Amino acid sequence: MAKSDRISDMAEPMFRTPKGTHDVLPEDHQYMTYIKKAVRHRCRQAGYRRIDPPIFENRAIFERGIGQHTDIVSKELFLVSGKHTEGEDQEKSMQLALRPEFTAGICRSYVEHGMQQLPQPVELYAIGQCFRYDRPQKGRYRQFHQVDLEVIGLKDPSLDAQLIHVCMNIFKDLQIADRLTLQLNNIGSSDNRKAFVVALKDFFIGKERHLPEIDLRRLEGNPLRLLDSKEADTQILLKSAPTLDQFIDEESKVYHATLIEYLQELEIPFTSNVGLVRGLDYYGQTVFEFWDGSSGAQNAVGGGGRYDGLIELFGGAPTPGVGAAFGIERMIWHMKQAGVKAPNKDQVDVFVAQLGPDAKKMCLRLISALRESGVHTIGALGEASLKSQMRLADKFGARFTLLLGQMEVKEGKIILRDMAAGKQKTVAFDKAVPEVLELLGAKDLDTYSLTDQLGNVVDSGE
Ligand code: HAM
Repeated sequence: MAKSDRISDMAEPMFRTPKGTHDVLPEDHQYMTYIKKAVRHRCRQAGYRRIDPPIFENRAIFERGIGQHTDIVSKELFLVSGKHTEGEDQEKSMQLALRPEFTAGICRSYVEHGMQQLPQPVELYAIGQCFRYDRPQKGRYRQFHQVDLEVIGLKDPSLDAQLIHVCMNIFKDLQIADRLTLQLNNIGSSDNRKAFVVALKDFFIGKERHLPEIDLRRLEGNPLRLLDSKEADTQILLKSAPTLDQFIDEESKVYHATLIEYLQELEIPFTSNVGLVRGLDYYGQTVFEFWDGSSGAQNAVGGGGRYDGLIELFGGAPTPGVGAAFGIERMIWHMKQAGVKAPNKDQVDVFVAQLGPDAKKMCLRLISALRESGVHTIGALGEASLKSQMRLADKFGARFTLLLGQMEVKEGKIILRDMAAGKQKTVAFDKAVPEVLELLGAKDLDTYSLTDQLGNVVDSGE
C-alpha cells in the first residue's frame, strides 16, 4: 500500500522509514511467504540446503569478492561503524559492512567451515535482506530482499543449466515466468577479458572526450562495464569498438555451446546477449539475467553466473561455483502486475464477543479451544458493549461470531452468528467448538504438528 493512501487521513507521523527502506506490511508478507514457500520447495527438490550468513561481514569480503571498482563496492557499500573507543580513528573502526548480496559471504562460509570435505557440489540457498546504498528509485531500494542459490565445488555446463532450470521453475510456480526473458552470455576466461580490456582501452585512446564522465571513470576502473552502459554516446562509439566475443577462447566456446544444448534439452528459452557482462567482478564464463520482457534490462528480476576464482580469493583451494539471485520486491511487483493473488492465511474465522465477568472468563477457555482446533479466533477484548464488539467483528471480517451474554452463561448456551448471511442460532456452550468446526470444514483449519526426524509428533503438553 502506498504510504500516502495509508496516512492521508492521519496526522503527519513523527518518524518515517529511512530513505530507500520500507516496512513489509502484512499484505506484502502474504506474497513473501508464498515466494519463500515456492523457493524452499524447489530448492529441497534439487538438493539445496539453507544457509544464513550474517547480515554484516568484514568489509574486505565484499571488496575482495565483488571488486573494488564495481558500483556495489565503490558507491553502494553500507559501512557499519562498530563501537570505537575514544581516540580511535573512526575510519579504522569501520571494518564491517552490511551484505549487499549473499555470494561473497557464502563462499567465505564454504572456506571457513571446510565444506570442500563434503560431497561436491555443495548446493546452498539463502533468503534475506541485503543492503545497497544506491540512489533510491522504483524497484531499487537501500534495503531489499534476495533469494540466492549457489552450487559450489564442481564445474560442468549441466550444473549451470540445472541452476537456471530451478530458477525458471520458481518463476513458473509464481506465475511470472512468461513475463521474463533469460539473457545469456559467456564472458570467457580472465585472460580473455584482460586481452579484450587492453584492446578496448586502445580503441578509446583519443576518443575520451566523447565519453560521458561516468563511462570515463568506468574505462579507468572497470572497462567491461562500458558494454552495458546506458549512455547514448558510449553506445554509438561501442558500435565500432572491438567486441568481447572476438576474444573468447575455444574452451569457453565449447562450454557455452554445451550449456545451450542442455538448456534446449530442458526446453528453456533464452536470448543470446553478447553485451551482457554483469556488475560484479567475480564472474567468468557463464553469465545470465532474467529481464522484464516488456521494459528491458533496467530492473532485472534476477541474475547470476559462474565464479570459478572466488573461493581462492578467500584462501580456499581453487573451487568452481555457479549461482543466481533474485530480488523479492521485484518478483512481488511482477506477481501483482500479472494479477497473481498470494493466499491470505490471516483471515479471522471466529470473533468471540462477551458481556460480563463470568462470560469473559468462560470465553478465555473457548477461544483457546478454538485456536487449538485450528480456528483463527480473536475476542474477549476489553469491556465494550456487545453492539460495539459486533461492529468490531465486522471490521475484522470474521466469518462467524460467538456471543456470550449473562443470560447465555446462566443457561449454558451461546449464540452463533453467520456474519455474511446475517443469521444466528443458539447452541449449547459445549457444542460451540464442534459446531464451528463443521461449519468451517476441515480444509480451512490451520493445524500443524511438529514431527521430529523419527516421525514422532511433538506433544506440546496441552
Ligand atoms: P545482482 O544482479 O547484483 O546479483 O542482484 C540480483 C537481484 O537482486 C537483482 O536482479 C535485483 O532483482 C535484486 N536487487 C539488486 N539490487 C537491488 C536493489 N537496490 N533494490 C531492489 N532489488 C535489488 C547478485 O547479487 C549476485 N550475488 C547473484 C549471484 C549469485 N551470482 C552468483 N551467485
